[in-house]
Amino acid sequence: MALVHLLLLPAVLLPLGHSASVNVGIVNGTVAKPHSRPYMVSVQGNRAHTCGGFLVSDLFVMTAAHCWTDKGLDKAEVTAVIGAYDLKSNDFERIAVKEHHIHPEFQYPPYSNDIMLLKLGKSTENSKNAAKISISKLSKDIDGSCSVAGWGRIKTNGTTSNVLLETNVDVFKNCGKFWNYTNILCAGGKKGGVCQGDSGGPLVCNNTAVGIVSFTEENNCDKPTKPNVYTNISAFMPWIKKIIEHQ
Ligand SMILES: *[C@@H]1O[C@H](CO)[C@@H](O)[C@H](O)[C@H]1NC(C)=O
Ligand SMILES: *[C@@H]1O[C@H](CO)[C@@H](O)[C@H](O)[C@H]1NC(C)=O
Ligand SMILES: *[C@@H]1O[C@H](CO)[C@@H](O)[C@H](O)[C@H]1NC(C)=O
Ligand SMILES: *[C@@H]1O[C@H](CO)[C@@H](O)[C@H](O)[C@H]1NC(C)=O
Ligand SMILES: *[C@@H]1O[C@H](CO)[C@@H](O)[C@H](O)[C@H]1NC(C)=O
Repeated sequence: MALVHLLLLPAVLLPLGHSASVNVGIVNGTVAKPHSRPYMVSVQGNRAHTCGGFLVSDLFVMTAAHCWTDKGLDKAEVTAVIGAYDLKSNDFERIAVKEHHIHPEFQYPPYSNDIMLLKLGKSTENSKNAAKISISKLSKDIDGSCSVAGWGRIKTNGTTSNVLLETNVDVFKNCGKFWNYTNILCAGGKKGGVCQGDSGGPLVCNNTAVGIVSFTEENNCDKPTKPNVYTNISAFMPWIKKIIEHQ
């Protein structure tokens, strides 16, 4: 069985990996009101914005697992920029990342279980412009508009944004029709969406984080034919609790 899997992997999974972008600012976005999203974190490698993330407790940042090796954080000095709006200003706090916890079943390609928790070297309890966001499952009542924010590219192969951008996105009910993966949510791509550099940021509905930016169609942030893909946070609650509560 193991052999069959190994032999099938390159043939079957690589093309899938190719159809999904390796990394996923905000396309069709607007500038966020400064500090209106105090949970937003810029996860940085060697002091350069690499991924989005969000504070889920005073000590933990949630982000995407693919940020670690696929985006080179494993070979860099990793810090979390907290309470930021304009990354070119110095109006934020930089905290060293002390530990990273990648979900044990994270896989690439294609991405699955794309979730990671970063433990900070210092509590953000008294940090300026910073606050955690609660995480939960998508309420059945909310099938309309949610939102996403980030400092990533503003179009395919475009420049990233120094200031935080945001856009409203609709969550799709029939995600499986577009992407055959488990534990994902589909949103965006019609009015606004995500692009490289937004990975790890939260899909926010009713002030609650329900998803993590994971991937989008390769080389097509602008007018994607399939919705953007997010990790379904509520499918990982036991793992999240275990890590956060045991620290
Ligand atoms: C973006 O860059 C990639 C790689 O350099 C290239 O293959 C692709 O055609 C570019 N796409 C656009 C829309 O510019
Ligand atoms: C979805 O993926 C599973 C396993 O990865 C496979 O067994 C199934 O046939 C796929 N379904 C479709 C519609 O492609
Ligand atoms: C951006 O807006 C245009 C025009 O409304 C739309 O066609 C396109 O799909 C939107 N892009 C995303 C990523 O939602
Ligand atoms: C939105 O959140 C508030 C407080 O967190 C809650 O009371 C309300 O029921 C939520 N609305 C929906 C539609 O889930
Ligand atoms: C997300 O995961 C939760 C927990 O497993 C599940 O109840 C919910 O239906 C999932 N949401 C979607 C849209 O698949």
